[in-house]
Amino acid sequence: MKFFTVCSLLVLSVLLVSGTFRSETSAQDARKPQDAYVLGPEAKLGAVKFSHLDHTAKNRSIEGAKIACVECHHTAQPAAEAAKHPPLKTAWPADRTTTLTVDLFEKDPTAPEVNGCRDCHARTDTKPKLLPEIPHIKLEIGTELVTLNNQQAFHRNCAGCHDEVVKTSKDLAPPTSRKCTACHKKAAA
Ligand code: HEC
Ligand code: HEC
Ligand code: HEC
Ligand code: HEC
Repeated sequence: MKFFTVCSLLVLSVLLVSGTFRSETSAQDARKPQDAYVLGPEAKLGAVKFSHLDHTAKNRSIEGAKIACVECHHTAQPAAEAAKHPPLKTAWPADRTTTLTVDLFEKDPTAPEVNGCRDCHARTDTKPKLLPEIPHIKLEIGTELVTLNNQQAFHRNCAGCHDEVVKTSKDLAPPTSRKCTACHKKAAA
């Protein structure tokens, strides 16, 4: 057993040093989302486990179909497309001409990278990586400005859909906005 472990470690390090192994895997991995993400590791109520795979492969939209990539990655479409869904208007990069789909992303090597939500929707008192400041929007009702930090952006996107789904679906029971600890889970101590 030990002998084989040593051997495979040797082979692995040769591959790593020669660079073949590393460049092959990372080129593909960079073009693929992970099956699952642990979001909000700093949240006092606990981190949120999010299955990217189930949210893209299963029928989970409000209409009971597949969720379009841009329903979450809303800046990954041309600005003119985003503007059809106010208050959205921003595209990233600003001059992009393509809309994110599985095909675009996996088959077109020139398609822009997918940005993490927190690259723009940073935590309060931190500067986002891509924007000069945390974005804000005006609500349809009233004049109140909402600053879309990580908490606001994720709650609106994630729990916003879940709250709609439970109104229309008898079969699905996603965690609604009031069910904090159905999403936030403390790591088992
Ligand atoms: C649908 C899942 C979901 C539900 C339900 C939910 N949250 Fe969250 N919450 C998240 C996600 C996802 C984030 C942000 C993760 C990130 O920053 O990457 C977050 C972020 C937060 C943050 C900010 C954490 C930080 O400091 O960065 C707080 C506070 C929070 N939630 C509290 C609550 C409370 C209180 C409730 C119930 C009223 C609640 N959440 C319900 C998913 C949820
Ligand atoms: C490149 C920057 C950027 C990225 C990346 C980004 N956003 Fe946004 N987001 C914005 C801006 C700017 C706005 C304000 C509206 C606009 O200008 O399009 C916004 C608005 C929103 C809104 C408000 C829309 C509404 O109808 O209330 C939600 C929710 C949201 N983003 C969630 C997300 C989530 C979830 C992700 C990741 C899957 C994400 N955003 C990624 C910049 C970004
Ligand atoms: C229900 C919301 C949702 C849908 C739908 C969705 N994503 Fe995501 N995606 C996320 C979240 C949240 C992350 C984690 C980003 C982060 O760390 O902020 C992510 C991450 C990614 C990443 C990795 C980005 C990075 O920074 O490494 C890629 C690539 C990606 N998604 C592609 C897609 C594609 C292609 C589709 C459509 C088939 C899609 N996503 C549909 C929410 C979604
Ligand atoms: C467009 C709709 C939609 C969006 C956006 C969405 N979800 Fe969901 N989510 C669902 C549906 C539908 C289910 C399935 C419930 C079931 O099978 O009973 C679900 C289930 C879940 C569950 C339960 C575990 C699981 O995966 O079955 C968690 C946790 C969850 N979502 C977190 C999130 C987070 C975090 C986000 C934002 C990054 C998000 N969701 C965005 C529709 C959505």
